[in-house]
Amino acid sequence: MITILGIESSCDDTSAAVIRDGVILSNVITTQAVHERYGGVVPELASRAHQQNIIPVVHDALKQAGVAKNEISAIAFTRGPGLLGSLLVGTSFAKGLSSALNVPMIEVNHLQAHVLAHFIKETPEDRNQPNFPFLCLLVSGGNSQIVLVKSYNDMEIIGQTIDDAAGEAFDKCAKVMGLGYPGGPIVDKLAKSGNPERFTFSKPHVAGYNYSFSGLKTSFLYFLRDELKNDPDFIEKNKEDLCASLQKTIIDILTDKLVRAAKDLNIDEVAVAGGVSANSGLRGAFEEHSRRYGWKIHIPKFAYTTDNAAMVAITGYYKYLDGEFCGKEVAPYARVSI
Ligand code: KG4
Repeated sequence: MITILGIESSCDDTSAAVIRDGVILSNVITTQAVHERYGGVVPELASRAHQQNIIPVVHDALKQAGVAKNEISAIAFTRGPGLLGSLLVGTSFAKGLSSALNVPMIEVNHLQAHVLAHFIKETPEDRNQPNFPFLCLLVSGGNSQIVLVKSYNDMEIIGQTIDDAAGEAFDKCAKVMGLGYPGGPIVDKLAKSGNPERFTFSKPHVAGYNYSFSGLKTSFLYFLRDELKNDPDFIEKNKEDLCASLQKTIIDILTDKLVRAAKDLNIDEVAVAGGVSANSGLRGAFEEHSRRYGWKIHIPKFAYTTDNAAMVAITGYYKYLDGEFCGKEVAPYARVSI
């Protein structure tokens, strides 16, 4: 029996989870409301909040799982990428607990964990996991990538954003409309009652399977600036249609490249991961593409889309099986690729 305690603290969510033999037993997430008034994550406040949250979160995760500390086989923690101060809290905590319990530590790449979230089993009989190779569209506040997943430990980024991430496009455009933070879920909600065909925004021309979202942000900004000159209430009167049209543009940009990559590589299993995979329009587009191209699609449960420790624990589980442990000298890294 292999029991992994996972710890995630890369940005503004403190999370701990327990996975036993690939099956989830608990996944506790504490979000940090302190950032809302600033319209974005304030790194120093994030690390302080992690320090306050980490012990109760780990305690709750073990309690909910019904697992005692002496049953833990290894502690998996997010080493990066992320905010250095935030990562330090999770890394230091993992070091302390692994020394106290005399169990090994497993370092986890946060991006790899988002992809492997698809392998979390809800029950021992759960057989919904993707087959290798598959493509994973990894879309979050900091990343927009198409990953070719060849095995648990072998992943290749075949396309990625050359500037902003898709989540950033949602958040920045929402900010321009005065909609609050984080903007993605707010845009998603308003888009449900809007007309996606009402406005058109420019789509980028980028080589290969790469993405670009900074042009969209600028064209959205200029469009609003011009319309506001004629009607100062333009945003208020049209926010549903603006959100629906913006969301459709972002989804079209994301899926056009994914369709091309799947066709070129002759792959018909396609997954989506990361915070933006919570978007209902993107989920709908995946289902539509599944019908049109015969794709077998994998869409994570909402709890595994945004940052969570269950994905860290499952990655730790597969690394444990491969005997991939790390030493106490390990330091977090702010930037790293898959
Ligand atoms: O993976 P994630 O939780 O963390 C980081 O990248 O740090 O992703 C957060 C991003 C934010 O940009 C947020 O606006 C976006 O995911 N997001 C959404 C939705 N829910 C979260 N974007 C669009 N629609 C959503 N429903």
